[in-house]
Amino acid sequence: MKWKKIGNILILDKNSKYESEKDLKRLLDIHNVETIVKVKNIAGQFRTPSVEILIGNNTETIHKENGCLFKLDVSKVMWSKGNTNERFRIAKLVKSGDTIVDMFAGIGYFSIPIARHSQPKKIFSIEINPDSYHYLKNNIDLNKINIKAGYKRIEAILEDCKKIATELSADRVLMGYVKTTHHFLDVAIDCVNHGGIIHYHETVPEKLMNSRPYERIAKSAGNREVEILDTNIIKKYSPGVVHIVVDARIY
Ligand SMILES: C[S@@+](CC[C@H](N)C(=O)[O-])C[C@H]1O[C@@H](n2cnc3c(N)ncnc32)[C@H](O)[C@@H]1O
Repeated sequence: MKWKKIGNILILDKNSKYESEKDLKRLLDIHNVETIVKVKNIAGQFRTPSVEILIGNNTETIHKENGCLFKLDVSKVMWSKGNTNERFRIAKLVKSGDTIVDMFAGIGYFSIPIARHSQPKKIFSIEINPDSYHYLKNNIDLNKINIKAGYKRIEAILEDCKKIATELSADRVLMGYVKTTHHFLDVAIDCVNHGGIIHYHETVPEKLMNSRPYERIAKSAGNREVEILDTNIIKKYSPGVVHIVVDARIY
């Protein structure tokens, strides 16, 4: 049976068979959790999960990862275990004094580890979904980010990044979103400083992996020069499709 543990909630794979109450109670004990749910799918722009509660009634929890605390309600916002390494990789890449625009901040998936493990000057964390924004604000406080910095190191912004990101400028632009991320490349390139870096995510058929993402970046960059620094596969997304991230410096 496939499962993942988020805080004190066990999430069963959508294909796992319905368990008897006796089995579920046993799973509660074995995994030391309060609630067991099944996530059927994650859909729409907000990446809202569709959740069936199998046992227990509390879907809000605090999950610990890479030394950071993330409060979330698994029935309202998603959590991808497959992105764990990428969250940590980015946190370590950031240079002291960087200004960052996190275009799809969610509950702080990237912003919190960056602020926790590096010394950025400022992170503008933009999120359009009020539920995610609520937890983003919570997580900034829970991890004492702004209190420890002594100023608003992370600024949470409830807005569509397409509207706001062009008004900002950054050394690094995080594009932690899938499926339609390329529609936001023009905005990211508008926002990134000369010599700054975009971290562009794409869900791409494996056979197009070595061409399509780079072509899309170059097209949006127009007259600006692009230097591809690195490409990493984050996870398998669906049969024949991978979720990748391209680090590209834009001059
Ligand atoms: C769920 S996160 C992706 C997962 C994350 N990268 C991780 O490490 O697990 C994507 C977020 O982008 C937000 N979003 C989608 N469109 C947006 C937009 N136009 N402006 C700002 N946020 C947006 C969604 O609401 C969602 O919270």
